[in-house]
Amino acid sequence: MPRRRMIYEGKAKILYEGPDPDTIVQYFKDDATAFNAAKKAVIDGKGVLNNRMSEHFMTGLNLIGVPTHFIKRLNMREQLVRKVEVIPLEVVVRNIAAGSMSKRLGIEEGTNLPRPIIEFYYKDDNLNDPLVTEEHAIAFGWASQQDLDEMISLALRVNDFMCGVMYGIGVKLVDFKIEIGRIFEGDFQRLVVADEISPDSCRLWDIETGKKLDKDVFRQDLGDLADVYAELATRLGVMPKKSSTTGPKLVD
Ligand code: TMP
Ligand code: ASP
Repeated sequence: MPRRRMIYEGKAKILYEGPDPDTIVQYFKDDATAFNAAKKAVIDGKGVLNNRMSEHFMTGLNLIGVPTHFIKRLNMREQLVRKVEVIPLEVVVRNIAAGSMSKRLGIEEGTNLPRPIIEFYYKDDNLNDPLVTEEHAIAFGWASQQDLDEMISLALRVNDFMCGVMYGIGVKLVDFKIEIGRIFEGDFQRLVVADEISPDSCRLWDIETGKKLDKDVFRQDLGDLADVYAELATRLGVMPKKSSTTGPKLVD
C-alpha cells in the first residue's frame, strides 16, 4: 500500500489523506501538551485510548442523530473521518465553573452554573486562542449568525449526550471543548462535530470522590495521565483487551 500523504500535524494528532477525496485518516499521537504547548510530554498509550474513547462518543452521537465527521475506526491509532472545513472557533460548553472561567470571573471552582454556558474561542495559537463574541465571529467572517445558532444547538445536544454517558459511569461533565466543521453537499452546507471528543478536551470529575479523570491531571501534575485515561476507558467499556497499550500486539 502506498504511504499516506500527510496533510497536517497538530499537537495531539496527524491528518493523512484518506482513500477517497472526501475522507481523511486521523492518527492519534501519544503527545500531551498544555498551556499552548508550553508544557509537553509523551504519555505511552494515550493515543490508543483517545482513539477508542473518541470513537465511542462520536458513534453514540451519530446514533442519536447528532452529525459528526466520524466514519469508522481503522486500527489502534487511526480513524477514518469525513473531510470538513473546520470553523476556526473552539466551542466550549460549561456546566460547572472551573479553569479559565473561574479565573476570569472569580467564580469558585466547582460552583454549579445556572444553565450550560457556551463560549467561543478564536483558534489561533499565536494569539493563545482568545475568547471572542458572536459579533467578532460574524464581523470577521469566521461564521454567520445561522452557523453560530446551529453551533450552539449542536453543542447543547453534545452536552446532553455527554452528561448522560458520564453520569452512567459515575462522572460529572464539568466542561468540554468541541470543534465544528462544514460539509458541502451540492449547494448546501451541513455542520458536523469534528476533531475529537476525549479526556484531552473535557473536564471530568468522579461524582463520589471528585477525582479528576481528564487532562488537568497532566496540566496540574496530579498523577499518571495514562492510568487515569485507562480508568476512564475501562469504565466506558472501551479499554483495549490487552493489558499493555504499548508493546507489539495484534490490531483489532
Ligand atoms: P478552559 O477552562 O481552560 O478555558 O477550558 C475549557 C475546556 O476546554 C476544558 O474542558 C478543556 C478544554 N480545552 C481544550 O480542549 N483545548 C484548549 O486549548 C483549552 C484551553 C481548553
Ligand atoms: N490544547 C492546548 C495545548 O495543547 C491547551 C490545553 O489543552 O491546556 O497546549
